[in-house]
Amino acid sequence: MRPGPAPPEQRVPRGAAGAVAAGAGTALLLALGVASGTPQGYAVPAPVASGGGLVAAGAGLVAGEDPVAVTPSEEDDRRNREATEASETPGPSGPSRPVDCGAAASSPVSDGSLGGLVLSVAGLLCGPLGPAGGLPPTTLEAQEPERLYALVTREQAVRPLRYAPDDLAPLPGGLYEAREEVVAQVAALLDEARDAGHDYLAVTSGFRDHDTQAGTHEDWVRRLGAERADQVSAQPGHSEHQLGLAVDVTGECGGFDCFGDSDDGRWVAAHAHRFGFIVRYPEDGEEVTGYAYEPWHLRYVGPRAAWAMHLRGEAYWEDFAPVALEAATAEP
Ligand code: DAL
Ligand code: ZN
Repeated sequence: MRPGPAPPEQRVPRGAAGAVAAGAGTALLLALGVASGTPQGYAVPAPVASGGGLVAAGAGLVAGEDPVAVTPSEEDDRRNREATEASETPGPSGPSRPVDCGAAASSPVSDGSLGGLVLSVAGLLCGPLGPAGGLPPTTLEAQEPERLYALVTREQAVRPLRYAPDDLAPLPGGLYEAREEVVAQVAALLDEARDAGHDYLAVTSGFRDHDTQAGTHEDWVRRLGAERADQVSAQPGHSEHQLGLAVDVTGECGGFDCFGDSDDGRWVAAHAHRFGFIVRYPEDGEEVTGYAYEPWHLRYVGPRAAWAMHLRGEAYWEDFAPVALEAATAEP
């Protein structure tokens, strides 16, 4: 079963630019700079020591498979808690960020309220992306902002309708593909997830071309009927998977609906932004996104936009895509 709606007080407000849902620790983390690089992209910042190697991926799940419920062990709970706390804690220093933004964002802060003030100042100094604007751009951020920041919704199709990226590469596990930079970032995310004890996190979907999406959607219509299918599956030409910028993941719980409430799902939600991903279809977001909660669907928007959304408490790409695009294309 899909998890029920969260109580209203747990819901993320829409369009909360400037608010500080993430707290001051993350601003400090950003101010400390950028960590290790990967061939086509980079993971930012890495607050906990991480080793090499990729997770053995490829659980081979298909959408709609019955989830297998498991009870997380106390050890899993502890590891997950520690990893989540680490994601909000300043870690080993990397290269400094640009002075103007860094000075504002690294001012001493002690609570959310002061952090909000600091981030507001940083936002003024650093532009629409706030402190995240100080991160060095990835290849896609620098060269293809219109593609990277594309807003694809139930109403807004991929352009052109049968677009397919020309730099697809195999995702970890080898069963699916995504754009090269996305592959590098997924690999970095899975690598760090494994180091944090999330050994079963795996990719279950990546790029889907127009016709594959048509088949996927038809399959959901057969299973659920047309109306419900449209809440869980995009019509052909309307899926972010066609951009090569979206991946689906799952973990030890072995399904999709169990993922959001699992240790693996919580770790992904807490850390995805550091690798340039957002949970694109948040819980209780159907009125905005048009789709039911999909904690497993990660959309790559690049570290700058993902960090900026995280710092500002922005939940919806519908709200932030225009901000990110304007920041990327603004005259210097
Ligand atoms: N499940 C998402 C909405 C897709 O089909 O792209
Ligand atoms: Zn997906």
